[in-house]
Amino acid sequence: MESIQILDAKKHVGETVQIGAWVANKRSSGKIAFLQLRDGTAYFQGIVVKSEVGEEVFQLAKNLNQETAVLVTGEIREDSRSKFGYEIGISGLEVVGESHDYPITPKEHGTDFLMDHRHLWLRSSKQHAIMQIRNEIIRATYEFFNKNGFIKIDPPILTGSAPEGTTDLFETNYFDQKAYLSQSGQLYMEAAAMAFGKVFSFGPTFRAEKSKTRRHLIEFWMIEPEMAFMHQEESLEVQEQYVAFLVQNVLDNCDYALDVLGRDREVLKKYTKLPFPRISYDDAVELLQKNGFDDIQWGDDFGSPHETFIANSFDQPVFILNYPKAIKPFYMKPHPTRKDVVICADMIAPEGYGEIIGGSERAIDHEYLLEQIRAHGLDENEYSWYLDLRKYGSVPHTGFGLGLERTVTWLSGIEHVRESIPFPRLLNRIYP
Ligand code: 4AD
Ligand code: MG
Repeated sequence: MESIQILDAKKHVGETVQIGAWVANKRSSGKIAFLQLRDGTAYFQGIVVKSEVGEEVFQLAKNLNQETAVLVTGEIREDSRSKFGYEIGISGLEVVGESHDYPITPKEHGTDFLMDHRHLWLRSSKQHAIMQIRNEIIRATYEFFNKNGFIKIDPPILTGSAPEGTTDLFETNYFDQKAYLSQSGQLYMEAAAMAFGKVFSFGPTFRAEKSKTRRHLIEFWMIEPEMAFMHQEESLEVQEQYVAFLVQNVLDNCDYALDVLGRDREVLKKYTKLPFPRISYDDAVELLQKNGFDDIQWGDDFGSPHETFIANSFDQPVFILNYPKAIKPFYMKPHPTRKDVVICADMIAPEGYGEIIGGSERAIDHEYLLEQIRAHGLDENEYSWYLDLRKYGSVPHTGFGLGLERTVTWLSGIEHVRESIPFPRLLNRIYP
C-alpha cells in the first residue's frame, strides 16, 4: 500500500492508500464519525463507518482528541461538497502521537493568545493557506528572474554599511569591530550587477523600527533585483511585469488557498493588466491637497493614509515617481534638471496595503556620491569599496526591493503583516 500526501489525491481515486495526518476536528453519530484531517498539504475529511471498521476502530476514532497524530488507511474518493474535493473512506486507523488539551480550540481566540501560540497557530487552515501563497510568490520569483536572464546572488547578512539610513540599525559585535544586521542587500547587489549584469537577491533584512503598524515587521524578507546598463523607465517595466506575474501565478496555482481565504479572484485579475499607472510625487501632493489633506506639503513623506488615498484613486498598483531628495537615501540618482528631486519610484499596492516596492536609478558619479555619503553623516571609509564601483567602469544602473511579507499580505487579502511570515518579529515580540 502506498503512502501519499492528500494533495496528490486526484491520482489515487479508488485506490487504498495510507496517509499520516493530524486530527483538526471531528464529529460523530452512533454509526459514523467524520474526522477533519490535516496532513500538511491540505485539509480533508476522513469517514469512519462503524459497520465497516468494527467496534474497536470506531471507538478509537470517536475518541480522538484535537491534534492527535494518526496513520489512516483507506480508499480515496471524490467529495464534491468539500473545498478540497477528495475524502478518504477509512478502513484502518493507528495513533502515532497523542494530544491532550490542545490550547487552540475551534472557538475564537484573541490575537495575543494566538501570537503566543504561533508555533501551533501555524497549523490552522487560514495560516496554511497564507503560507501556500507565500511559497508560490517565492517560487514564481525564481521563475521570473531566471527566465529573464538574472542570476541569484546572496548578499551578506552581517554588514558594515547602512544603505537605508542609520536610525533603525541592529548593531552587534563582530569580534572587535561593530557590525549591523543587513537593512538591504542593495549596495552589494550593485557590486554584483557590475560583475554579472542582471542579478537578484532574496533574503532576510532587519530594521529596528519603532513602528507598530499592520505593515511593519522588524525582520522581513526582500527580493532585490539590480540591473546594469538600465535606466529607471525600463526598471519600472520589469517591476510591473514581475508583480503582474506574481499575481497571475497565485491565481493559477493557489486555488485552494484563495478559497480558504475568501479572496476575490476578480479583484486580483485587475492587477495582471499592464501597464500600472504612474503619478509623479508632485502630482500626488497636489491630488492630496485638493482632497482635503492639509497636512501634506511638498517635501513631506507620505504616511499610510496618504498612500491609501493615492492608491484608491487608481484600481491597480500605482508608481509614485521622483520624490524629494531630502527624504530618500544617499545613493539615488539626482534628477537631471531639478536639484531637490531624485529618480526613484515606490509602488503602492491597492486596497490600502501600502508600499510594496521601493526602487531607484543609482547615482553613478564618484564625486557626487562621496559628497552625499558625507552629507548623510556616513563614514566614507566604510563605503570606499562601494565608491570603487564608480571608479572602474561606472554605468547607469537601477534596482528595486520588493517586500515579500507586504506582497503576501496583499495577495492573501489579510488584515495584518504578522500573519504573512511563519514567525513574525515585531516590536516587543521575539517569542516564539
Ligand atoms: O523602500 P525600502 O526601504 O528600499 C530599500 O531597502 C532599497 N534598498 C531597495 C532597493 O532598491 N534594492 O524597502 C523596500 C521594500 C518596501 O517597499 C516594503 O515593501 C518592504 O521593503 N519593507 C518592509 N516590509 C515589512 N516591514 C518593514 N519594516 C519594511 N520596510 C520595508
Ligand atoms: Mg521605501
